[in-house]
Amino acid sequence: MIFFLAREQNNMFNLRINGIFLIACSTLLCAISLATTVDYDANAIIINGERRLIMSGAIHYPRSTPQMWPDLLKKAKDGGLDAIETYVFWDLHEPVRRQYDFSEDLDFIKFLKNVQEAGLYAVLRIGPYVCAEWNYGGFPMWLHNLPGIQLRTDNAVFKEEMKIFTTKIVTMCKEAGLFAPQGGPIILAQIENEYGDVISSYGEAGNAYINWCAQMAVSQNVGIPWIMCKQSNAPSPIINTCNGYYCDDFKPNNPKSPKMFTENWIGWFQKWGEKRPHRTAEDSAFSVARFFQNGGVLQNYYMYHGGTNFGRTAGGPYIMTAYDYDAPLDEYGNLNQPKWGHLKKLHAAIKLGEKVLTINATITEKQYGDSVYLKTYANQATGEKFCFLSNAHNSKDAQVDLQQDGKYYVPAWSVSILQDCNKEVFNTAKVEAQTNVYVKKLATELGNTFTWTWTSEPVEDTLQGVGTFNASELLEQKAVTVGASDYLWYMTTVLINDTSTWKNSSLQVNTTGHVLHAYVNGQYIGTQWGTHDKLSFIYEKPISLKQGANIISLLSGTVGHAHYGAFFDMATTGIVGGPVKLIASSNTTTLDLSKSSWSYKVGLNGEAKKFYDPKFSSNGVQWNQVNNVGTGKPMTWYKTSFKTPEGTDPVVLDLIGLTKGEAWINGKSIGRYWPTMVADNNSCSDKCDYRGNYGADKCLSGCGEPSQRFYHVPRSFLNNDTNTNSNTLILFEEMGGNPINVCVKTITIGSICATVGYGKTLEIKCPDGKTFSQIAFASYGNPQGKCGSFQVGVWESSDSASVIENACIGKQSCSVNVTSSTFKINNQGGNDGQLAVQLLCDGSDPEIGRVQKVKNHEKLSLNESGPESEL
Ligand code: GAL
Repeated sequence: MIFFLAREQNNMFNLRINGIFLIACSTLLCAISLATTVDYDANAIIINGERRLIMSGAIHYPRSTPQMWPDLLKKAKDGGLDAIETYVFWDLHEPVRRQYDFSEDLDFIKFLKNVQEAGLYAVLRIGPYVCAEWNYGGFPMWLHNLPGIQLRTDNAVFKEEMKIFTTKIVTMCKEAGLFAPQGGPIILAQIENEYGDVISSYGEAGNAYINWCAQMAVSQNVGIPWIMCKQSNAPSPIINTCNGYYCDDFKPNNPKSPKMFTENWIGWFQKWGEKRPHRTAEDSAFSVARFFQNGGVLQNYYMYHGGTNFGRTAGGPYIMTAYDYDAPLDEYGNLNQPKWGHLKKLHAAIKLGEKVLTINATITEKQYGDSVYLKTYANQATGEKFCFLSNAHNSKDAQVDLQQDGKYYVPAWSVSILQDCNKEVFNTAKVEAQTNVYVKKLATELGNTFTWTWTSEPVEDTLQGVGTFNASELLEQKAVTVGASDYLWYMTTVLINDTSTWKNSSLQVNTTGHVLHAYVNGQYIGTQWGTHDKLSFIYEKPISLKQGANIISLLSGTVGHAHYGAFFDMATTGIVGGPVKLIASSNTTTLDLSKSSWSYKVGLNGEAKKFYDPKFSSNGVQWNQVNNVGTGKPMTWYKTSFKTPEGTDPVVLDLIGLTKGEAWINGKSIGRYWPTMVADNNSCSDKCDYRGNYGADKCLSGCGEPSQRFYHVPRSFLNNDTNTNSNTLILFEEMGGNPINVCVKTITIGSICATVGYGKTLEIKCPDGKTFSQIAFASYGNPQGKCGSFQVGVWESSDSASVIENACIGKQSCSVNVTSSTFKINNQGGNDGQLAVQLLCDGSDPEIGRVQKVKNHEKLSLNESGPESEL
């Protein structure tokens, strides 16, 4: 046993700790961590006295799985990050008031420990309002119904709940020794989230609330600084920070605070029906470099790994299940190249200047014409210098002559980082990192088609109008369901005496969304839904009424609850208030049913009986073989089983042929699906100009395609057994699709490309477990085109392919200096050529290392589904 005593002088944000904390000690293994002091000034975050610039990236623990965390964190560390930022998701941890869940996938303490084990710091954004495209902004929905509550304002009921949860999280972190002064990884903590965006809507109460938030946070005594993002009136000592695509002009409200960019939106999220946004590696790097050029201290990518909105966690309305975000690590955890590699090089380049950038350096700025300027940071005492030379013009490239410090070509919308102010170590527009092309490969070992069974959603009760309680009004959906289900049945009975007027009439339902299915007298009448930009809609369908009692059963479905904006928590869902009307065919007589007696039932019977869970789905349920019957019917559950695909590549379900619903693997929900939500055909382009301000509608792909056709199945959701059909897939199919084409695919590396200029070094790498197996293209000269369609230019070195073959084939990684001593230059070109390569990686080929005899420049056909859409 080892004992240490910790003596601490906790002076809020100027914390000094002497000694070491004992963290854990067992008989065999003693783990100790050094206490870490966290301090700051305007130029640096000061960790254990060391003046630091911090590169950080967001990875939200519930958007991946504990099995994925170590790999994601390793890739973040390899990518040059110092810290990981995560929110804490209140709704997951306190689904029922005072009943907490921090188990398994929700073990955020374990996530933070993993962060530390990976050698990273943590930024803990407790919120507990988080926005994050998360259901109800991360608030548990039971908050909504607490008597007297008003959310995110100076309201005693809300503040009490917020304080209890914040204190719980802080206490758990303290107990686990996770704050830096305790030897843990957490160096910063956040309270609230972007309240500045909405504060004016809350009047004076908004200001009072934000002051209370600050006091409440500070009283938690965490020994590290607290931040608030987008909060220009953040009360001292809380540091206000910037979120956006660019934050170079941001100034914290206290000149002593460090300039922090807590959300650099590295791409954007998608809603159902939207195209896929991309933010280029060049523009992402430009934004980061400009931030540090202008005095930035901490920069956090939102997101570094976006991941997946499993279950019903997606916010909204209409936020999609995939939350890829075009982040440096893609939804499945693969490197999104060249973004990941380009930013890695950028981090390394900026860190070369860390010493001089973090002192109170002498800063000079020199203009070189239109939008071009040089910023010099100099340490007068040592003579050390570091420069950023930027060109913020969105079309004009610049040639800058720095005299004895060299001449530089600075492309439009780029920043050159000059070590010692005389050597370009990085330019944000010159991308040398490799491009990875991933392919979705059919897991053929599983067989081509699955055997499906089906059962109908039991609707006998609700089609008879039988619910669990009644009200003489049309209620707001979330207030009734409290998030327990996406679905709420609204049912009423209408007595018709006069069939001559009402026999042929229509049913009109005004709903605030998001989806409506209607039945009259047990007959399915039809379905309608809103869109991400128009949630409310009027449903109107012809119906036939009979003499006497007619039963109207309406099933309203939600697709994620609002997560953003002033009073977002009050946004209505469902048929609240209606009106619901019958309109006689004559069109002159209407019957308003809005104040009739409505019967309600929360959720589906199949949900209550756990049809989605193989442990329960067989209990008394008749599953029928799918043949000609059984498909194309709304409200149907489908079931199949399949083997686990071999290997370690990420697994996806291709849900083409289905409409809308939810999918479960072995009882775990992989999220809502909606492949019939197709993006429109306008404004996608093959080319994306990185120059000029980025916006989420700038570089789009996926026109005319389902917003999401493929759904991530984390490997940990599958059984280890690859020999038998040990996995059960269950679908709730809402609008009558056909599962026959549903299949399992794996995401594997297709090929790797890179383009490198003369004098530089080609550095390429296959993912772990794979090696270079084949050259699809290699040309040193003036190659044309882009990855997947490279072509030889007017000249090339004849040994291009053999040089690459010798250096790379059979290896996981290789590097080749692009010089005239490496490549024979046939006199046509000078030393200004470029090397372009495309290689295949293959770990499954038993003859790895054998060079397959492909003719150079011959175009290889990639696996069936072809490369991922690329810009
Ligand atoms: C910010 C918010 C994040 C996320 C982001 C957009 O406003 O703080 O949580 O919602 O926008 O992805």
